[in-house]
Amino acid sequence: MIAPASIQEVMSRADIIDIVGQFVRLKKRGASYIANCPFHQEKTPSFHVSPSKGIYKCFGCGKAGNVVTFVQEHEKLSYPDTIRWLADYYKIKLEETERSPEQQQQQLAEEGLRILNEYATTFFHDTLLNTEEGQTIGLSYFKQRGFRKDIIERFRLGYDPEGNDIFYRAAIQKGYNADLLEKAGLVKNRNGIHHDVYRGRVIFPIQSMTGRILGFGARILKSNEKAPKYINTPENELYVKSRVLYGMYQSRQAIGKQDECFLVEGYTDVISLHQGGVENVVSSSGTSLTEDQLRLISQLTRNLTILYDGDPAGVKAALRGLDMALSQSFNVQLVLLPEGEDPDSYIQKSGAARFHEYVKGHKQDIIGFRLEVGLRDAGTDPVRRSKLVNEIAESISRINKAEDFALQGHYIREASRKLDVEEAGLVNLVNKHIRERIEQEKRQQRKEDVLPEPALLSSEEPAFPDLRQQDNDEQEWELIRVLIEYGEKPYEGYTDVAILVQQRIDPDLIENMLARQVFDLYYNYKLKYNASPGLPYFMNYPEAVIQQQMISLLQAKNDMSPKWSENYGIQTLNGELNYINEVDSPLAYFEHKKIKSLQDELSKRFKEEKDPIKVDFLLKKYIDLKAAEKDILKKVNTVIVPLNSKK
Ligand code: CTP
Ligand code: MN
Repeated sequence: MIAPASIQEVMSRADIIDIVGQFVRLKKRGASYIANCPFHQEKTPSFHVSPSKGIYKCFGCGKAGNVVTFVQEHEKLSYPDTIRWLADYYKIKLEETERSPEQQQQQLAEEGLRILNEYATTFFHDTLLNTEEGQTIGLSYFKQRGFRKDIIERFRLGYDPEGNDIFYRAAIQKGYNADLLEKAGLVKNRNGIHHDVYRGRVIFPIQSMTGRILGFGARILKSNEKAPKYINTPENELYVKSRVLYGMYQSRQAIGKQDECFLVEGYTDVISLHQGGVENVVSSSGTSLTEDQLRLISQLTRNLTILYDGDPAGVKAALRGLDMALSQSFNVQLVLLPEGEDPDSYIQKSGAARFHEYVKGHKQDIIGFRLEVGLRDAGTDPVRRSKLVNEIAESISRINKAEDFALQGHYIREASRKLDVEEAGLVNLVNKHIRERIEQEKRQQRKEDVLPEPALLSSEEPAFPDLRQQDNDEQEWELIRVLIEYGEKPYEGYTDVAILVQQRIDPDLIENMLARQVFDLYYNYKLKYNASPGLPYFMNYPEAVIQQQMISLLQAKNDMSPKWSENYGIQTLNGELNYINEVDSPLAYFEHKKIKSLQDELSKRFKEEKDPIKVDFLLKKYIDLKAAEKDILKKVNTVIVPLNSKK
């Protein structure tokens, strides 16, 4: 147990800007700082940090807390480990209260891997630099590959001696137990005899974004052996391959600053690029990108440039996992290096200037790249070409976040030109894929969704609820929210949601003055800039009441979402999957409201009217309106009821 006084000390020393700034790129905005939220995918920053209050809050996903919860969430640590992490960062010595042997044992198991890896890294690194064998074999290998001393130190490269168990014996003597050594992948036990797994290999320690050693890659030196070229740490509590990117620790700042991340295949590519001054680079270590890895990168940038060998294997590897990147709003560019070169060899041969020049001249966006490879494969075969058109449309359809519409348009134009098909046809095809995905999501929902049968349909003259009284404000703000959130999303029969709202809703029906003001601000902006203002526009609007309203708007939504899934088993991803329903709800409300006010007007005229023909006409009108109201209410009952989760 950590002594309470120590916890106090850590808490008083820990500076939220300092710590959060280790993980995300903070920008100063007035008295606070903003960033892209590290806890969810976003392109425009809604993550706010207040140094005076010592708290952060994301207005997009609702995550909020203090410096401890931040590290805890971000690094996925327990509370005590978070305190230890912070203490370590500030070089505060923690006082630990007495622990039982069992507790100590458990503690050791939890932290053991991390501590052992740190020890091993230092051991291998020292061996490389300060022993004769290390220097003559390991270091001279790195030298021959052109690695400078400062780079070797920066990446903490190492060497494990050729003797069978030199590391093993050193570690045992230090008190590390054999089981842990095995678990860490450093040692193997064969019939009771332990030997070093990495013996005779050079070592590339793999670090987390905060510099912790998670595992290793160990490269063989002799080229003509049957043994594998690299041996990597097996998966354990600390090393989860799919969540690791080699070079992240050394590159994180440059990635943020350049607002671009290069992705390469190998350890040595990362190192050589760094040495050449290209420091915004990570490696997925020979596997295709995973969602977790993309998430790591997305904390720093959305611009991903993939550098791969120009051979067919490189092309194939480059293409894997990229639809995922596209649907996560990454701007993905591809650069194929000249055949026979990898980034390591290329930069060593040509230097940083020519490297940059090459990259600039050979950047291709992913869809363009896929087009080129696809066209080459398909040749003139009409069947394969039409298959390709469909595949490309599918890819383009994945770029359907509101803020990426321009990008999607760009791809559509480019693809229609290269594939020699009509743009309109391609648009249709892309829309078809989008619709199919939405439909599929809807079907999924319906399966899980058990809606109450609307009672009003059974009785002749049902007591219509007067929606004007019910949740008046709530519905008006809901309209504002969906407008801001989904304004640029497609809606059947309209250019987008904003146009739909503009054409179908009478602004005079918005009674809340503030809501009306925001509504007008929205369309004024749209008129002026021909684009929809995003949430940040309102969050930063120089009127405090508007800012405040935006915050509670998001709060309300976040409070609502869990109920959604709780009551109806529906998965909402920030409401993304559900947006058509979400838009329909306030729409139905306002339409009902419109009808109600028309009814009021009609009945007034009805009472006053003397001319029997006109009375007849008014009566007919009134009946029509009732029918329309019935229709609306049918809709209301399917869309409003679940949204408010009221029964
Ligand atoms: N890799 C691996 N196991 C292997 C081969 C490769 O884990 N047997 C991974 C490593 O992470 C390696 C990456 O795939 O860095 C790319 O492989 P490769 O291009 O062969 O290695 P390089 O890093 O380029 O190493 P070198 O330049 O020394 O050949
Ligand atoms: Mn290489």
